[in-house]
Parts: sequence; structure tokens; C-alpha cells
Amino acid sequence: MPPVPAGLDPRVLEQEAADLAAAGGLTFTVGDQTLTYTSDGTTVRCEAGTDTGATAVRLSPQAWDDLVGQMRTLVGLLLSDELHMERGGFEQLADWEPILRYLHAGIPPYDPSRADFEGRDPAAAFPVDTGDAALAAQLRTMGFLHVTGVFAADEMEAANREVDHLASLARPGDDRSWWVTDEDGSPALCRLVYATMRSPLLAVLEGDPRVRRLGTLLDPALATAPDRMEGTAVLIKVPGRTSGLSNIPWHQDCGTGGHAMFCPAVSVGIQLTGSSAETGNLQVVPGSHGQALKYGWQDRTDVPVVSIDTAPGDVTVHIQDVMHASPRPTGAGQRRTMYVTHYPSSLWEHIGPGEALNDLVRNRQEQVAGLQGSSARLAGSD
Ligand SMILES: [Fe+2]
Repeated sequence: MPPVPAGLDPRVLEQEAADLAAAGGLTFTVGDQTLTYTSDGTTVRCEAGTDTGATAVRLSPQAWDDLVGQMRTLVGLLLSDELHMERGGFEQLADWEPILRYLHAGIPPYDPSRADFEGRDPAAAFPVDTGDAALAAQLRTMGFLHVTGVFAADEMEAANREVDHLASLARPGDDRSWWVTDEDGSPALCRLVYATMRSPLLAVLEGDPRVRRLGTLLDPALATAPDRMEGTAVLIKVPGRTSGLSNIPWHQDCGTGGHAMFCPAVSVGIQLTGSSAETGNLQVVPGSHGQALKYGWQDRTDVPVVSIDTAPGDVTVHIQDVMHASPRPTGAGQRRTMYVTHYPSSLWEHIGPGEALNDLVRNRQEQVAGLQGSSARLAGSD
């Protein structure tokens, strides 16, 4: 059985146990071993050698190690066909994931009633001349940050011209861009990836000291990864009812896995166009970083949500496992954001040049789309 981390809060365990009391237990079969998690309504227990769960799943020792080690999630294992349901369905299994992450790694289930904003305003925007300590405090508390006036208008105009150029060269299937199908049934570009690998101008922007300052507010050791994890990406919001991965529902960027290798990575979003609901903006749940998505949380009425409206030249900063979403534009769309993500050194131990966790998601769009309606535990840069 996996060791239980020290310092778990019995009140959190009790709340989760109450929610799972009617679930009837969960059995894992790993090789020739079985273990079953059960809730008695007040706490959750794990017993080896029993196969009594109402939900039962078989997986390989490697998959189990990845699950316990926070390298892959249940959705990630599902997408790679490594979960074999023996009783019950994936939805029943997914109900257990938050408590499993708490028991395996001390990552608590997200609960808005436990959020503490320390008197800060989650929707506050900070001028670029704000001191590092104040910016870092906001980012640490909320999991995201909005800084205004970081880049000048002419800098954003030059970047947009370069994005126009890269977009004109992009083709579906070129492995350097993401596409959706728009309302007319035509392919539409929604993301350029590895953008700074083929654009000196965008590479300069990626390495700009203003970007580095904001990307390393919490940890000066974080570094950019232009040649892996899809590098620096430019998001382009396509208007209308699209199919494909453009309007990404609530998720954490480690939603399919990788938490142990790249969290808490920090994404710096350079707002090339500015953003609003009409053009498609970033939404976040303040204070949700470092916690586990709990199925159905978005149906609660007490969850705070901030929609970040920005001007061209503003920057958003988010810790990648803060819950965030990129809903469908209500109007003309076309928000452009250039995401420069700063990673901990552990990323380089696991991900080589040209490799990315999103490859898995991108190659399984149909299955991912089916999951979006129910659990929405997906990866993405926005
Ligand atoms: Fe994301």
C-alpha cells in the first residue's frame, strides 16, 4: 500500500469520506495484488488483499506507480488505454481521484470554503511598477496575477505582425499548430506551438527580462523550455461554435498528468490583443492551485470565478495547476495570447526535445471531447 503522507487534515478526510460513503468502495488490481479503498462515512481506509469494491479497475504496476507518484492521472491513463474497468465505470472511478491524490501525495481536494485570500482582491490588476514582493504575494495567494502595461503598443503590433506571418505558413498536420473546425466546417488555426523556435522576434520577447521577472516571482530557478512541451505557444481564439480543442473547459494543466514533473510551473501570458468575454478571455478560480479537482465542483454556487479582461501589452501570470478555462468567445473572438511557461528543473529529467504531454491529448481529440462534457480534467496552455 502506498505510504500516507504526514499531516493530513482529519476534517478534509471526514468531508471526503462523507461524500464517498455511498460509493461502495474502489478496488485496484495491480499485477497479482489487490487493494480496496472504502469509506465508512467518517474516514477513508485502504486494505490490501481484498477485492470488494463496487468499482474495480485493473492496471499495470507502471501505471499504478505513475498514478501514486502524480506522474499520470486517471484521465491520462484512460486516454492511453491503460485502465481496465472490471466493475463500474470511469465516472465512479473519477469520484475517488481527489481523495486518492490526498492520500498518495497530500494534494487536498479543492473546496472553496477553505480558500483564504488574506483580505486581497482576487480581481485586482497591478501596474507594472508594483514591487516584486506585492506581485509575488498576489500570485502565491490566488494562483494567478494580472499585470497591466508591461509592453508598449508598438511591441505588441510587431509581435502580431510576426504571428500573422507564422499563421500564414501554418497548415493542418504540420505538428507546429493546432486547428479546430469552425462553424462553416473549415479548419481554423487556434494555436501556434514552438513559436519561438522559428521566430527570432518572438524569441526575443520570450527572453525579455520583463517576462522572466514575472515568470520567476515565486522561484528564480524556473526556466523556459522553448524546445519541448510545445515551447512557447500563441493562442488564437476562434469565434463561434467550433469543434476541437480551442475552447478549453475548466482544467488544470496537469490534468492528464505531469504534476510531479512540472508543477508548480508558471505561465506568463503576454496579451498581444487584450481580451474580453467577446474575444475570449481567461477565467480562473482564485486560490485553487495546488489542489485536486473534485468532480462536480463547478456546479457549486460558492465557487469564486474571475474573468480576466486585459488590454494589449498586459500580462497574465498563472500557476499551471490553478483551475482555469478558456470559454467560447461571446463575440468576434480572435484574442491572441503568447504563453511563455517557466518550469522547474525536474521537467528536463522527463521530457526531451520535441516531447510534450499534450501530444496525447491532441491525438485523441474525439475521446477528449467526450470527456469535456463530464469531467473536464484536461491539459492545455489556457
Ligand atoms: Fe491550461
